[in-house]
Amino acid sequence: MQETIDRQAEVVTVPESAKQGTHCTLADYQAMYQRSIDDSDGFWADQASRLDWFRAPTTIADWSFDPVDIKWFTDGQLNICHNALDRHVAAGKGDVTALIFEPDSPDTPVRKITYAELLAETIKMAGTLKKMGVQKGDRVTIYMPMIPEGAVAMLACARIGAVHSVVFGGFSPDAIAGRIEDCLSDWVICADEGLRGSKRVPLKSNVDEALKKVSARAVLVVRHTGGDVAMTEGRDHWYHELSEGVPDTCECEVMNAEDPLFILYTSGSTGKPKGVVHTIGGYSVWTETTFRYVFDYRPGEVYWCTADIGWVTGHSYIVYGPLQNGATALMFEGVPNYPDHDRFWAVVDKHKVNIFYTAPTAIRALMREGDAHVTKHDLSSLRLLGSVGEPINPEAWRWYHDTVGKGAMPIVDTWWQTETGGIMITTLPGAHDMKPGSAGKPFFGVCPQLVDNDGAVLNGATEGNLCITASWPGQSRTVYGDHERFIQTYFSNYKGKYFTGDGCRRDADDYYWITGRVDDVINVSGHRMGTAEVESALVLHEMVAEAAVVGFPHDIKGQGIYCYVTLNAGIEANDDLAKTLRQWVRTEIGPIATPDHLHFTPGLPKTRSGKIMRRILRKIAENDFGSLGDTSTLADPSLVDGLIEGRLNR
Ligand code: WTA
Repeated sequence: MQETIDRQAEVVTVPESAKQGTHCTLADYQAMYQRSIDDSDGFWADQASRLDWFRAPTTIADWSFDPVDIKWFTDGQLNICHNALDRHVAAGKGDVTALIFEPDSPDTPVRKITYAELLAETIKMAGTLKKMGVQKGDRVTIYMPMIPEGAVAMLACARIGAVHSVVFGGFSPDAIAGRIEDCLSDWVICADEGLRGSKRVPLKSNVDEALKKVSARAVLVVRHTGGDVAMTEGRDHWYHELSEGVPDTCECEVMNAEDPLFILYTSGSTGKPKGVVHTIGGYSVWTETTFRYVFDYRPGEVYWCTADIGWVTGHSYIVYGPLQNGATALMFEGVPNYPDHDRFWAVVDKHKVNIFYTAPTAIRALMREGDAHVTKHDLSSLRLLGSVGEPINPEAWRWYHDTVGKGAMPIVDTWWQTETGGIMITTLPGAHDMKPGSAGKPFFGVCPQLVDNDGAVLNGATEGNLCITASWPGQSRTVYGDHERFIQTYFSNYKGKYFTGDGCRRDADDYYWITGRVDDVINVSGHRMGTAEVESALVLHEMVAEAAVVGFPHDIKGQGIYCYVTLNAGIEANDDLAKTLRQWVRTEIGPIATPDHLHFTPGLPKTRSGKIMRRILRKIAENDFGSLGDTSTLADPSLVDGLIEGRLNR
């Protein structure tokens, strides 16, 4: 063991090996962080200069949080596809592997795609999109499995200046329809089917269902499994047919830094999911810089992020971050437990992965299966581990560190959000000691601040609501079609500050510990979900009168979904109906929203003014009903005894 663990202080020192050849030692971090605050323009101009610009920006930071108007690199022009592909090919790195594709089944041949090949494929897809009629500024919905064509579709949109909206392949037809409608997207790219743990995911047929509710001009279908799918004449096109004869060149569109790159829908505490908008210049610089320093990537290494391109982690750290850095990124189609619970480690061994980035929920699930799945594989290629998506509990951290990492390598616990575009708080591998369960320190240019519920600033070692007081290049600029909602959601709680929605503790060493959401958002297996979304799905059912949804601690998922449901008069609650409603939510939103517990109740605890007392419902769902607090303000206090009696999470 190259490091020492001081269990009392819970500090795990960074191994000497991580300090060798690093992009950033502790002294570097301190100097760079200081400069990123004192001379933000100079610092970000320097970072931006690693990229190719068609016109170099002369304006760097150009933002205000009150009124809200965020711009970076305003007069710069560039194309992120050029920086991800053409630039490397032009520099003679065309033969470097860009993507390693590991299919769902270990028996299916691996595909290795060089930068030159990925560029050629992207040009072909871009030409095909143009042939379909897609123009600069159009919104293109992408509903793809984890196959290289998913990344190609994103890069092709970026190349021609179209705005992509990737919809996670696990979402339902209704969810696709809602997202197509919200951003008025005329175009869809999908595959015939996806494969996950040998099960087929009916992607094209889900799109067909969605397009019964909303319209699209054309659907481009990538053949993947070869499964039978229906094609609508005049609307649907096979990619392999339509791409025939498209030119083998397609110049990158010259884009303004503040032109939109993509929309990604994410859940909030109220209403429908929001279309978070990221723009090209700032997002390019943020993902390039964070990937470079956080993963400390060195040429020749194999990097693997297990996320899906349907989430922001896939956008920033499977596609744009690694490719802009000229890295070799692994893309995995399947799931951690197929064909067996050792699949992750088998893949690390097979491809000699050096950097591995996954989510606490996966770590917990695999930890439960026992060490033998890990130890039977040669993991000596690993050098750096990462975690993202939710707070990692110290027990899972230790297992990851000791069993997967053999106690010999750094773990970066990266806190960030769809809205932040990239990593915001993390230790840097060659610089910082680690504390299990703490994300660590602010990345360059990030100014965290903790405030109490009234907005008073809390100093020193303390706990409060996490705000960010200054803009950073990767920050989301707006909510698509609803800038007012953007302002309301992020800038109205604490004027002049971006509010993250997370609670956070800061210790005496200025390490940040994210404690979880303080709003009505829950985090299920690292996926963000608005309790309001599940509630509105439930009340859409004809038998449901009212529903209240809360999270509760779940061993594997982090949080589970607990639903309190009141039925219409005369409807009888029984197990069959619970099953039906569970299925109903799956169909309305997608399998990730499947309720863990459905608790039928004759009524919900409300204040006399009719407000549902969620605090009480949360406590009961957490099985912590000893401290319900003051229930005297309830309209009907006797309801609570019945709820405790009937609680499901015992
Ligand atoms: C949570 C995912 C603790 C947090 C990149 C945040 C985390 C939400 C961490 C964003 C972490 C993400 N430690 N909590 N390392 N990473 N979160 O938009 O609550 O899907 O607000 O972005 O996940 O989820 P999102």
